[in-house]
Amino acid sequence: MKLKNKVAIITGAATGIGRATAILFAKEGAKTTLADIKAKEANETVKLVKDAGGETIFVETDVSKEVDVKKMVEKTMEKYGRIDILVNNAGVVLVKPAEQTTEEDVDKVLSVNFKGVFFGCKHTIPLMKKQGAGVIVNIASVSGHIGQVNHAVYGGTKGGVIAMSRALGVELALFNIRVNSISPGAVDTPMLRGDVKTEATRRGISEEEVKREFEEQGVLKRWATPEEIAKGILYLASDDSTYITGGDILIDGGWTAQ
Ligand SMILES: NC(=O)c1ccc[n+]([C@@H]2O[C@H](COP(=O)([O-])OP(=O)(O)OC[C@H]3O[C@@H](n4cnc5c(N)ncnc54)[C@H](O)[C@@H]3O)[C@@H](O)[C@H]2O)c1
Repeated sequence: MKLKNKVAIITGAATGIGRATAILFAKEGAKTTLADIKAKEANETVKLVKDAGGETIFVETDVSKEVDVKKMVEKTMEKYGRIDILVNNAGVVLVKPAEQTTEEDVDKVLSVNFKGVFFGCKHTIPLMKKQGAGVIVNIASVSGHIGQVNHAVYGGTKGGVIAMSRALGVELALFNIRVNSISPGAVDTPMLRGDVKTEATRRGISEEEVKREFEEQGVLKRWATPEEIAKGILYLASDDSTYITGGDILIDGGWTAQ
């Protein structure tokens, strides 16, 4: 029980990495707030968390709206009276050639992936300062480390998340608040499945073929499960990592080591 009696907010908890993190945190004793725009899927996560023995609430939240993020934090305080851990995981992907990318595309990806992470931090930091402790884990991506074709805007936001986490790690160290990011490689979630579909349609080849290509990118030659990323998030959220702040952990199956 690495998170016994800890209170955690997990954004983007309806599916994928966020859902796996919510279930793992429940098994480790955390009480959670699950935040997402997808109420139906989030309520399925609520059930899975409760089945795993966890206490949880769902707060419908669009992380790109500051007012929603503020409400997410307030509801968590009303329910549990403290926030020990914030996992800024909600994100959207954009795979498009630069010249076809519209202003709306840019605004959407920036507002969820960058502003959403920042708002989460902004509204949690004052409470963590008051408590004298806290941990923030932001989900970035390999796209923030390496250049990927058709990923300029997405990669830009993820590079921004790595830089933001580093800066906040430095800013908040004296308040006993640790801030780090995790950069996953290819993880088998609805997001990646969606990417594969888009790419297959664009190139007129099968989804299986695109999936095989993606798998070849990592030296382990397979995708990660969402649970493998959740374990990294747990590590950074728990007292197992008390000497890590302002850092980024790559969980990418060796993709960027090549
Ligand atoms: N799957 C991968 O291969 C991969 C690789 C690197 C990084 N990531 C990152 O991991 C994180 C989780 O992604 P995933 O792969 O589990 O995808 P996913 O699509 O399964 O999960 C993302 C979740 O975020 C939610 N979300 C989207 N916009 C939101 C908003 N405005 N407000 C609140 N919630 C919102 C979605 O509803 C969804 O539940 C993302 O930040 C993503 O960029 C994923």
